Amino acid sequence: MSETSDGARERLVYGRRKGKKLRPGRQSLFDDALPRLKVDLPASGPLEPASLFAAPKSALWLEIGFGAGEHLVDQAALNPDIGFIGCEPFLNGLAACVSHVVERGLRNVRLHGDDARQVLKALPPASVDRAHILFPDPWPKLRHNRRRIVSASVLDMLARVLVDGAELRLATDHMDYARWMLRHCLAHADFDWLAERPDDWLKPAPGETPTRYEQKAIAAGSKPLYFRFRRRPRA
Ligand SMILES: C[S@@+](CC[C@H](N)C(=O)[O-])C[C@H]1O[C@@H](n2cnc3c(N)ncnc32)[C@H](O)[C@@H]1O
Repeated sequence: MSETSDGARERLVYGRRKGKKLRPGRQSLFDDALPRLKVDLPASGPLEPASLFAAPKSALWLEIGFGAGEHLVDQAALNPDIGFIGCEPFLNGLAACVSHVVERGLRNVRLHGDDARQVLKALPPASVDRAHILFPDPWPKLRHNRRRIVSASVLDMLARVLVDGAELRLATDHMDYARWMLRHCLAHADFDWLAERPDDWLKPAPGETPTRYEQKAIAAGSKPLYFRFRRRPRA
């Protein structure tokens, strides 16, 4: 629970925060590496992206809900000039991602082990060049739909931090959530859908790499949908 600006108590993260106890090796690697990989949110003022990485980066990409981090680390390895922030409140996923980052020697990844909205609030306006929300928890029951991370308020936060022309990439294999994503993004004044032909939503964009959920969904016979939105230029 956290305090909102009007003093109300707000639950930010639904779903599990912890799974099985970490193996001793993974726990010690986590304890050792997390302090230098984690995003330190400032107590006041904006989070300056340039302060996160030792070397200057050409762009900043954000991944919300990276799971165990397969897509995040593959993208970071393919794009060493780009800085990546990944957000994931599930401890075991975070620990798995820390291991991948260390094993692959990546120097362009920073991690936030909590709600992505904390990072979205802290980043300066127009500071993110691409955002991914891939296979987010579908919360299929009608009474749980409001827990979905794709929402008008999160789209407002993304619109604030994305630079003009930046892409917001979404994917899901849950058809009701796919309709929900489209409805929310199409209703938002700051996003345009980039699709021109069916392959644009039936196939991942060129250069994308798979997530764990995506691979599981495809192996189980699902056909995920992929949506690319562009942040409209500010007036
Ligand atoms: C279904 S999993 C998909 C993980 C990964 N993207 C994949 O495709 O393999 C959704 C993830 O979103 C994370 N998540 C849920 N709420 C979140 C939030 N508020 N901020 C960041 N991540 C969140 C969950 O912990 C979970 O790991």
